[in-house]
Parts: sequence; C-alpha cells; structure tokens
Amino acid sequence: MALMRLFFGVPLTAAATLQLEAVMARMGLQHGLQRGWRLLAASNWHITLSFLGDTDGLRLPALIDLGERIAADNDATSVTLDGLHWWPSADRPRLLAAVANDSAPLMPLRKQLNAGLRELGIAFDSKPLRAHVTLLRLERGIAVEDLSVPACTVSVATDELALYVSEKAGREKRYRPLWLQALQAPPPFTRR
Ligand code: 2AM
Repeated sequence: MALMRLFFGVPLTAAATLQLEAVMARMGLQHGLQRGWRLLAASNWHITLSFLGDTDGLRLPALIDLGERIAADNDATSVTLDGLHWWPSADRPRLLAAVANDSAPLMPLRKQLNAGLRELGIAFDSKPLRAHVTLLRLERGIAVEDLSVPACTVSVATDELALYVSEKAGREKRYRPLWLQALQAPPPFTRR
C-alpha cells in the first residue's frame, strides 16, 4: 500500500475555532492582506500530538487500534493557547502559531501514543511537545516587517483524538481525519 503522511492530533472544538477566528480577524485588521502569507483554513486547525510522517498505509488498522485504546483510557481535558508567536523565531519567522505555555494536560495522551508507536515499530518525530495551532505559513523568501500580533487567550477543550492524513489540496494542504474518537468525559468536579 502507498505511503501516507500521518499524525495523531486533537481537532479544535467549534467554540475554540470561533475564538481563534476572532483573533485572526484582528490580525487581519492589524496587518491587512500581506503578500506571501498563506493562511491555514480553519477546517485544518488542530493540535498535533505525534507526527509520524510517511507511513505504510497497511499500518492503519494497528494505528486505529492504538488510538481506540488510548481514547478509551484518557479523560477529556483542556489547554489554553496563550499567545501568537512567530516560529521558529522572531528573527527568522516561517509560520505564525497560537501556542500554549502549558502543554502538560496533553502529556498523558502524548506519552501513551509514543509508547504505543514504539511498540508497533512505527517511527515518529520525538521532539518535545509544544502544543500549538499553526495559523499561517510564510512563502519562501517572505520577510515580516511588522511582527506585532493581537492578544490571544483561547481555551481549547481537548475532547477528541484523531488520526489525520496530510493531503495536497491544490497549492495547499488538507489535514483529513481518517479516524476520530471522543475521549472519556472527566469525572464530575474535576472539569478544567
Ligand atoms: P506545524 O504546524 O508546526 O508545522 C502536519 O504537518 C502537522 O504535523 C502540523 O501540525 C505540523 O506542525 C506537525 N508536525 C510535527 N512535527 C512535524 C515534522 N517533523 N514535519 C512536519 N510536520 C510536523
């Protein structure tokens, strides 16, 4: 079977999407339409937990089994996207992301995913998790004159786990869930 570019992630809820859209509307008011800024469609917004990259499609059933086990074993939680950042650095910006200062609520999911992937012998990117949503990418050679960004405080209820495939959609990429499952509702009185 052909290789598929895969990753596990958390989709944004409708409420978080609306709030981030408002932040991006303010970004648009601040900067106007800039040449070479490629906005990610809101339908593509997600928080990546484990990036697998090109993976044999024959491994899909095993990956879905892993996702099902982990979704059944973890409570829904939340993370807060506390600010917009130019990454990898303000000196050499390549993308704009809404970033969580605290990724800890997602660590149990991430650890179980990576342990499961290791057991399956499936490679993944092991760089430390910094929970974020990529909002725009810069085309090659585009510099950012004005690095100012609007305030952003968006609480994201992380209540679903998904296995995504990254596909070409014209000039853009589309991140399409191949499998998705609700996480467990947290017990009463521990809701974040
Ligand atoms: P990014 O948005 O910060 O680029 C699909 O590419 C998703 O996987 C994106 O959310 C991307 O993060 C994330 N990702 C994590 N590690 C990656 C890697 N090594 N290469 C490509 N994408 C990666």
